[in-house]
Amino acid sequence: MVAANWKMHGDSQSVLQFAEALETYAGAHESQTLVFAPPSPYLQSAALIAKHFAVAGQNGHEKSRGAHTGDVSMSMLRDVGCRYVIIGHSERRGAYGESDKLIIDKLLLAFESGLIPILCIGENALENADGVTMAVLTRQLQGAMEFLDESQKKQLVIAYEPVWAIGSGKTPDVADIGRIHEKIRYVFAENNAIIADSLRILYGGSVNPENAKQIFALPDVDGGLVGGASLTFDSFQKIIKAL
Ligand code: PGA
Repeated sequence: MVAANWKMHGDSQSVLQFAEALETYAGAHESQTLVFAPPSPYLQSAALIAKHFAVAGQNGHEKSRGAHTGDVSMSMLRDVGCRYVIIGHSERRGAYGESDKLIIDKLLLAFESGLIPILCIGENALENADGVTMAVLTRQLQGAMEFLDESQKKQLVIAYEPVWAIGSGKTPDVADIGRIHEKIRYVFAENNAIIADSLRILYGGSVNPENAKQIFALPDVDGGLVGGASLTFDSFQKIIKAL
C-alpha cells in the first residue's frame, strides 16, 4: 500500500490530472492498494475518478457534528467517497496540539463512520537523540490499541513517520527502519499476535524514487506514506513501481 499525502498543495486541475493518471495505473496493478489524499476541497472530485484507487481525508474532526467552523467530520469524508483518513499526522500533533487522547477519539469516530484510519506515529528529533524512539512509539500505539476491537485492529493501518524525517530529505538508516518496523509489529503482537502478521505498517518521511525500493524491500515495511515526492505523478509512479 502506498498513499500520496498532498498536504496543502495542488489545485483542481492538478488533482484531476493526478487522479486520472493514478486511476489508469491502479487499474493495471490491482494487487496494490494505492491511496490519494488531496486537500479536502478536492476529495469528492478525486473520489469520482477513483475506481481502482482509494481516496483519503488528511484529517477529520473528533466530534461527529456541531459548531466547529472550518472543520470537516469523518462522516462527511465518508459521504464524499473517502475510504481512508490520515489520523495523528505529526504536523497536526505539532501545529494543533493534537494529543494521544484526541487521536484515539478520532480513531474511534473514523471507524464508526466507515473509514479506515491510517494512524501516524513517530518520534521527534529530540526523542530520537535521547534514544527513546521505541518508548514513544509504544505509548502512541498501545494507547490506541486499548480502545479498538478485533475487527478495527484488523483494518487499522499504521504509518511510522519519524518527525525529523518528514519533508527534510533525511531518512533513518534503512537498517533502523527495518528494526523499528519489526518492533512496531512486535508491540502490536503483544496485544494481538494473530492480527499482527497482517498489520499494514507503512514508512513515511522523505520517501523518494531513489530510496523507495530499498525501504519497501524490508520485510516489515508494507508500503509508504509519501508527501513531497507524490506531488507529480511521474515521481509518485516511480515510487509505486518500487513496491
Ligand atoms: P514527506 O512527507 O514525504 O514530504 O517527507 C511525508 C508525510 O508527511 O506524510
